[in-house]
Amino acid sequence: MRNFRIVPIDQLDQEPYMSVLCFPNPSEKELQSRVQELRSLGLRAIEFSGTASLFGVRVPVLGKGFVGVVVIAHMNGDRVAIKIRRQDAGRVDLLHEASMLSIANSVKVAPKLISASKNFLVMQLIDGELLPNWLKTHKDAASVKQVLREVLEQCFRLDQVGLDHGELSKAPKHLLIDKAGNPFIVDFETASAERRAANVTAVCQYLFGGNSSAARILAQIFNEKNKAELIDMLRAYKINKTRGNFEALLRVCLSIES
Ligand SMILES: Nc1ncnc2c1ncn2[C@@H]1O[C@H](COP(=O)(O)OP(=O)(O)OP(=O)(O)O)[C@@H](O)[C@H]1O
Ligand SMILES: [Mg+2]
Repeated sequence: MRNFRIVPIDQLDQEPYMSVLCFPNPSEKELQSRVQELRSLGLRAIEFSGTASLFGVRVPVLGKGFVGVVVIAHMNGDRVAIKIRRQDAGRVDLLHEASMLSIANSVKVAPKLISASKNFLVMQLIDGELLPNWLKTHKDAASVKQVLREVLEQCFRLDQVGLDHGELSKAPKHLLIDKAGNPFIVDFETASAERRAANVTAVCQYLFGGNSSAARILAQIFNEKNKAELIDMLRAYKINKTRGNFEALLRVCLSIES
C-alpha cells in the first residue's frame, strides 16, 4: 500500500513534520510563524507522501531541491502542491518565483499558481513522474513523440513571451509528465523576464544533445543521423525565433524511425 500520512496544520508541531516544514533547521519560533503563514493561505492539512526523502527525516515528500521541499497540501477539499522554502535557500522569499510562474501560466505553461507568501508557493499538484523515469516505462515512439512535441511547443511559447526558465539545459528534475501524458515544466525560481529567452535551444540540448539518461533513451528512438541537421536548425532558430524556423526544428527533432 502507498505510504502516506495526512497531518492537520495544528499538528505540525510534532516531529518529523516540524523538520520538513523548517528544513534543515527546525525551531519552535520558525514553526509557529510558518504554521500561521499556512493558515493565512487557507491550507488545512499536509499530506506526506511521494518518492523523495529528506536527509534524517522519516516521512516521504513529493520532491526536494536546494531551494525548496515540495509536499501535497489540502485546501478547500482539493489536493495542491506546495513548495516550502528551505531555511538555507539562497532566496529571501518565493515571491519572485511566483511572479515568474504566473507569466508562464499566461501562456498555458507550468502548474497553475494558486497563491504565494514568503515561505510557500501554492500550485496545481501534478500527479506524475519526472521525464527520465517516465521514459523508462513509456517506450512507444508515438507517445514519446507527442510528449516531446508538447514540451517543445511550451518552450516556444515561453520564448515568445520572453520568459527564460534558466535550467532547461539540465532538466532531469524540471519536466514532469502526468498520468494522461501531459508534460509540465516546473521550478521557475531561476527564471527571468530580463534575460534573452532560450528555452527551445536549452531543452533541445538536454533532450537530444547531452549525455543525460533521458538523452540516452531518446537516442535509441530518434534517428541519430539527424544530429548535424538538428544543429543547423537550432542555429537558424536561435538567430530568428519565427514559427517557421521552430516548425523546421520540430520536424528534425521529431523524426522518429519506425
Ligand atoms: N506542482 C508540482 N506537483 C508535483 N510535484 C512537483 C511540483 N513542483 C515540483 N515538484 C517536484 O518537486 C521537485 C523539486 O521542486 P523544485 O525543482 O521546484 O525545487 P528546487 O528546490 O527549486 O530544486 P532545484 O534545487 O533542483 O532547483 C521537482 O523536481 C518535482 O519532482
Ligand atoms: Mg530550483
